[in-house]
Amino acid sequence: AAQDNAFKIGLILPMTGQQATTGRQIEAAAKLYMQLNGDTVAGKKVQLIVKDDTSLPDVTRRLAQELVVNEKVNVLAGFGITPSATATAPIATQSKTPEVVMAAATSSITEASPYIVRTSFTLPQASVALADWAPKNGIKKVVTLVSDYGPGIDAEKFFKERLQFNGGQVVESLRVPLRNPDFAPFLQKVRDLKPDALFVFVPSGAGAAVMKQFIERGMDKAGIKMIGTGDVTDDDQLNDIGDGALGVVTSHHYSAAHPSAMNKKFVADFKKANKGLRPNFMAVGGYDGMRVIYEALKKTGGNGGGDALLAAMKGQIFESPRGPVYIDAQTRDIVQNIYLRKVQRKDGELYNVEFDVIKDVKDPGKSK
Ligand code: DHB
Repeated sequence: AAQDNAFKIGLILPMTGQQATTGRQIEAAAKLYMQLNGDTVAGKKVQLIVKDDTSLPDVTRRLAQELVVNEKVNVLAGFGITPSATATAPIATQSKTPEVVMAAATSSITEASPYIVRTSFTLPQASVALADWAPKNGIKKVVTLVSDYGPGIDAEKFFKERLQFNGGQVVESLRVPLRNPDFAPFLQKVRDLKPDALFVFVPSGAGAAVMKQFIERGMDKAGIKMIGTGDVTDDDQLNDIGDGALGVVTSHHYSAAHPSAMNKKFVADFKKANKGLRPNFMAVGGYDGMRVIYEALKKTGGNGGGDALLAAMKGQIFESPRGPVYIDAQTRDIVQNIYLRKVQRKDGELYNVEFDVIKDVKDPGKSK
């Protein structure tokens, strides 16, 4: 029967609500991967089942349960925010279904289930490089501003520890709510504190709001620089922010301006398939997640269950549009280059232009 021949990927994403850009980017990237690589792998017909969890973890968990029990999916994938990824972990463990985390980035996620494999990044991975760069570039006194949940707390902790180790100082750590944040009172506080820089982590899709308010309040003119992980200068929104973003330095694993042949082709293909939309780091996490699933399916010949697929995901080494990566077989987390980038104008558009690289960075947040 046609059913027996199906290989089902349950892709759970925030398609509506505050994190909808993440869902749109990852769905588009997954579909592009399938368009370029076909939907028949090892004799199986790959079927993508997209579900909208509106970024509410209770909804993610219910959808994951339904996908496993009713649809009998072979793989669960997506997960726009950390609470959605961790809410699904017990289902992955109980049903022995690989859970490919394509977006969420709190360090501890991979420890929530032995069936989790990650193709996004971790906030400790991205933050430490910036804390090495800052004090060498005149930034000694910093205020941190993060979204008050897993990835923000990771970013705050790892940036601060490394900056202090390097002789810098975090004079205040501010946390804003994840849902409907009002940045104004926090930015006022930063203005009064007059640090050399404000370090920011907000999730993908929220960066433009912070940056616009930062610029409107004349913080940069008051001598306060903005720095952060690349989530704040997200390729999906960078052009909307405008020239006020010029010169902002961030550290991250992906820029649409990454100058490799593979990335140039990826960006061109993605734009062509999506009415000119520029891919961001979420798209790359989705594209590479599909690669990890496809290669695992090939390697198992379409015969194995969840355990065989998981084993075939561990240790994969490949070139991503972001650069060379591998899935660490012990931690099931991605090891990748972290780039320092500066917002510059290129061909009439704003880009995060890479100017330095730290190679093969493992997640510094792993306890084991
Ligand atoms: C997470 C979400 C994001 O949009 C992002 O840019 C980084 C981390 C998260 O919830 O883990």
